[in-house]
Formats: sequence, structure tokens, C-alpha cells
Amino acid sequence: MNKEVDINELLKELSLSEKIGQLQQLASQFYIKDSEGELTGPLKDLGISEEKIWVSGSVLGVKDAEEARRIQDKYLDKSSTKIPLLFMADIIHGYRTIFPIPLAIGCTWNLDNAVLCGQVSAKEAALSGVHVTFSPMVDLVRDPRWGRVMESTGEDTYLNSVFGKAFVEGYQGDLSSNYNIASCVKHFAAYGAVEAGREYNTVDLSDRQLKEYYLPSYKASIDEGAKMVMTSFNTIHGVPASGSKYLMQDILRDNFQFDGVVISDWGAVGELQVHGVAADDEEVAEKAISAGVDVEMMTSCYINNLENLVKEGRVQEELIDEAVLRILQLKKDLGLFSDPYRGMDGDKAKQMFMCNEHKEAVRKVARESIVLLKNDNVLPLSKDKKIAVIGPKGDSTDLLGGWSWQGRKEKITTLKENLINEIGNNLISYAKGCDVNGHDESGFEEAVNVAKEADVVILALGESSEMSGEGGSRAYIGLPGVQERLAEEILRLNKPTVVLLFSGRPLEITNLSKKAPAIIEAWFPGTEGGSAITEVLYGDFNPSGRLTTSFPYATGQIPVYYNSYNTGRPKTANTAETRYVSQFIDIPNEPLYPFGYGLSYTQFQYKDFTLSSDKMTKDDKITASVTVKNIGDRKGTETVQFYIRDLVGSTVRPVKELKGFKRIELEPQEESKVEFVITEEMLRYYNIDCELVSEPGDFHAMVGCNSADTYTKKFTLL
Ligand code: GLC
Repeated sequence: MNKEVDINELLKELSLSEKIGQLQQLASQFYIKDSEGELTGPLKDLGISEEKIWVSGSVLGVKDAEEARRIQDKYLDKSSTKIPLLFMADIIHGYRTIFPIPLAIGCTWNLDNAVLCGQVSAKEAALSGVHVTFSPMVDLVRDPRWGRVMESTGEDTYLNSVFGKAFVEGYQGDLSSNYNIASCVKHFAAYGAVEAGREYNTVDLSDRQLKEYYLPSYKASIDEGAKMVMTSFNTIHGVPASGSKYLMQDILRDNFQFDGVVISDWGAVGELQVHGVAADDEEVAEKAISAGVDVEMMTSCYINNLENLVKEGRVQEELIDEAVLRILQLKKDLGLFSDPYRGMDGDKAKQMFMCNEHKEAVRKVARESIVLLKNDNVLPLSKDKKIAVIGPKGDSTDLLGGWSWQGRKEKITTLKENLINEIGNNLISYAKGCDVNGHDESGFEEAVNVAKEADVVILALGESSEMSGEGGSRAYIGLPGVQERLAEEILRLNKPTVVLLFSGRPLEITNLSKKAPAIIEAWFPGTEGGSAITEVLYGDFNPSGRLTTSFPYATGQIPVYYNSYNTGRPKTANTAETRYVSQFIDIPNEPLYPFGYGLSYTQFQYKDFTLSSDKMTKDDKITASVTVKNIGDRKGTETVQFYIRDLVGSTVRPVKELKGFKRIELEPQEESKVEFVITEEMLRYYNIDCELVSEPGDFHAMVGCNSADTYTKKFTLL
């Protein structure tokens, strides 16, 4: 158990310099010159003295248990405070055994998968010396040009909120076990709304948009007990998040009642000067500590300026004391005062890495994350057919996606290898055809010839991991390089062909979708992705993934998302022929594939959608129920989605909003009654006065298999 440490007494023993040291976080390279730890930002000279390195309070990116132990040993030996270091790292979708990217986990619509990812990640990470993970990322993303869409669970506030909670539960549990780690919810706030999807770009939202759509997922994660919050690089209302009292005091501390640690993103404190809201490092330090950043990650404005600012009376020492106490409390919660090594065990970690239990966990999640987008009687494949695997992702180990720095590609079996393993070498042929990127078409001829000899073609196409994730914004989000040209050549053969996409974002595939008879989105499916996809291709697993992010019809359509406002001139069936409606004259308004969409190898029929009443007071509830039947010939899982529309509000209201969902597995011909309870709380929104209230009036309740295909019933809130 934790040695009883009175952190208030401990604080009194610290000098001002030692207190300020606790507010500094440095990469592991500062402690071990040859560290192979994760570097996730510019490692420029911070102008920090050797002495100050040994009073800093936390480290990020440590490589493994051995390195963490070496650093902790050295630190406790050299440190004047003997307060153990806190080790943090980006464990985003697995540590060594890598799960599908979070966007794929979201597409499972199965919260248990987020808990499982958190638990397995935490176990491997904790044994490897990590105390805190910089996860979950719960930024709402409506712009797939932004590379970090891969880290999110998509475009819906409600879904991001429940997934954020589930990840926190998975990582932290009750922190009683050394297999739990603390979670850090990020990026506070609204980093996903960067203009044009351009990385690190400006965010400028109305307060209503911020509160209605972007903030709830952070709050949900904090309500679940997240121990830390990370400030984002972007501005909100003209102020960079790391200098924003509005975000950190008014919202985070006062409204959300968050009492944990606030850490900046990498360099975000120092960047206040680059943004242009501080003239020098001294003013940066004054602004950031006053706004509420506790830990400065990888810039050194605090450690080099706060002592003077206190002596000059520009910063109250109490502010620093409060920040230090939050950090000491976190170290105490993690038991570091009684065990600075907190169960780190490199040998045990190695036994856990890629163990059968963890491999089955990531395979299970990968299966459920795969989204069947189109299937004109091509899938599932039969195991006696000759398969040509064509394309740069067909024999690629680049299946882990961004933020998988501890993953090991050499441990991955490729799609081709898994197919051979499934049906034998003699039925599988392969040609790369072209690279992921680049203009070289010299491989096309071989690819066409190989395809000609096969019964079925699998076109394995997509992005490289580097084309999404941090710093991975793309202006053109079609298939990179000449892949679409390769697909055209292969599709010209008119053979049964499956386009299998590996990507960190929804791609613009409208032209391809018109020619390809079958399309599967596999995202970056993780360590066991190849085998999971093989199970789907042969129908050993019936795909159940549903999109949590719209596939745009064209990049020019972005942002395109399901819960948009109606406008004063909506384009409807009745107005489709007129010019003066809200539309593009060259493409439809609808995305290619909408939020919530995904096909199955079976079919589901919705019937008997009823409401228990067509009116309710604020104290009542209405039960919406629908019967779903599997009318196909194979077992399948359907995600029944429940949406609500507020027909008249004191401000405009979205045409629908997800309020619930249920995954049901049905045998052939089996049916099930699914119910959703409508409560007054479910109808609340930020009204004209930005108050979170419900307003009497008429509503639509909708159920369906995706956001564009629903049944509707009307009810009234009295
Ligand atoms: C990066 C990312 C953030 C990450 C941090 C630490 O810049 O923005 O998500 O947690 O640095 O690696």
C-alpha cells in the first residue's frame, strides 16, 4: 500500500525551485542520452541546465521498463527532493500488441472493445514502466483531411463521449492494481476543428458549437475519473488553449469541477509566444500558470522564469503550490511514494507482449471494426477459388497505423500470408502493381496478368501509416499515388473484385465505388489485422462495423456530417430541381457513405416501430421500441441506432442527433424487440441563452440501421 505521505507537509519542505521543477516534463532523452524513447515533437535545445533536469517532475516517452528503472534510479540518486518521477507516454491503441486505430474501434460501436483496449494496453504499459497514458483522445472530428481523425472515434458527440468513458475505465479501473495506469484526456479543447483540416491550424468556433458539440466528450471522460487533461495547440476564442483562463478555469475547473493535473501538449506553453499572445518566455510563463497549466511539456518557460516572477510579485506562489499539490496527489494515487517502480517488470512485460490472450483481444476488435461498404454478390468468398491479391497493401506489414511506436511490424503477418495460411499457397497469387505513393505504373502489366489467371481479385489499397496521425493532414484524400489507376486497370477485367482499403481516414473513393463490385474499409487493423480481414473475406466472421465518420462524396464537400442544420432552403425531393436551394450544382449534398452506415452478409428488417406515448411531461419517459429481424441465411450483428430531432428550438437544431444504439446478434430468421427510453434530459441543448435546457414542443424519434435510413415517429414534450 501507499506509504502514508502527507503531500501538504511534503510541499512545505520544498524550495520554490524544487516546486517549480515538479511542473516540468522532459523527454527521456534528457535523462539517458541514448534513449530510444518516443519522440513526438521537436527536440530543440530547451536551454535547461543539467541541475534543473534533476528537479523536473515527470518524463515522457520512456522506451521500456529497463530504461524507466535506470532513469528512476539515477533520478532518486541525484534528486534533492527524492520525489519519484512520473512516467508518461502515448499509448493510444495498444502498447506492443496493437489494436486497430481508435477510429476503427469506434466503428465497432462496442464500448467493451474500448474497455478491452484500455485494459490490455495498461497491462503491457504498466509493466513497461508507464504510469500515465496520453489517451483517450476524444476530439470531435468533422474533417477527414485532418490526419488525427484516425485517433478519434469520429463525428458524433454522444458516441465520442461514451467511448471516452470506456477508454478511461479500461486504462484506470480503480487504479488499485499495478496493471492500471492513469489516463489523460485530450486535446482540450476542440483540436479536431482546425480550419481546413490543416494540422495545428486555427480553431474558431461559436461558444454554442463549442459547448454543444466539442466539450461533452471531455467532460464525460473527466466524469469517469480521468486523472489528467492535456491542453491543445489551437486557439479557442482567439486565445491558445494553454493560455486560456476561459477553458481551464471557467470550464475545466469551475464548470467541469476537474481537480486533476493539467498538462500542456508538447511545446504548447512555449508556443504562446509564437501564437503572438506573449512577448517572451517570461510572459509565457506568467500567462500559462495563471491560466492553469500545471505541467509544461518540453518547453522550459516555467523552470527558467517562474522563480523570478514569484520574487517580482507577478505570480503568486500559491498558484505554483496548487499545481504542485495536484502533481503530488497523482504520484500518491499511483503509489509512487511507496514504490517508485510501481510494478514495472520488463521480463513479465515481454511475456505479455503478443501473448495469445492479447492477440485474440486485438483480433476480436479488428474483426468488429471492419466495415463492409459495398457488396454486389462478391462476398463472402469461397475457399476453393483462386485469389489474386493485387496492390501495395496486399503483402504489407504497415497495418498498425499512427501512434503505434511500441508496435513491431516484424511480428505482423500480412494479408497475403493470412490468405495462404487459410486456403493454401496454390490458390493465392500476388502482384504489388504499384507503391502506396508515387507515379510508377510499370507494375501494372504484371498485376493485370496475375489477375487474369484468378477467379477473384482482392485489390488491397490505401494509405501508409504516415499519411494520417499527427502532422498527417492531406488536402487530397483520395487513394494516394497511382492506386486508383491500378484499380481501373484491374476492374476492366470484369472479374469478381473486392477493393480492400487500409486507411487512417475516410477516403474519397466515389469514382472507385461506381466500378468496384465490393468494398471493405479495414482502417489500420492492428497486429492481427491480416487474420481478422481473412475471416471477414471468407465469411467466418460476418462484418458488423458501422461508420462513425462520413465518407465524403468529394473533398470539396467537407465538412460533411450527419447532424447538420436544416438551413432555410434545404434540398429535398420536392426542391431537387430548383437552383435556389442549399446545394452543390456538381455533386449531391449527401456523403458517399453516411454516419452509422455498414453492410452485413445478411439482411435485417425493421418493423413495428412504436412509441409508448406521443406526449410526455418533463417528468415522464417515452419508450420507443422496434422489432428487428434477421431475414437472411446467416447469423449477423446489427447496430440499431436511435436518433432524435427537435423540430423547433430557440436556436436552430440538427436534423437528427444520435441518442442511443444497441448491438444485437441475431440468428437467421430470429427477431428481437429493441427499446430506447426517451427522457427529458436527452432533449436538452444549449438554448438561445446558452443554457443547457429542454424546450416544450414537437420532436421526431427515429430508429434505423444508419443515420440516412430511419423510421420516424412524432412526440411532444409538454
Ligand atoms: C504530441 C501530440 C499529443 C501527444 C504529445 C506527447 O504533439 O499532440 O497528442 O500526447 O505530443 O507525445
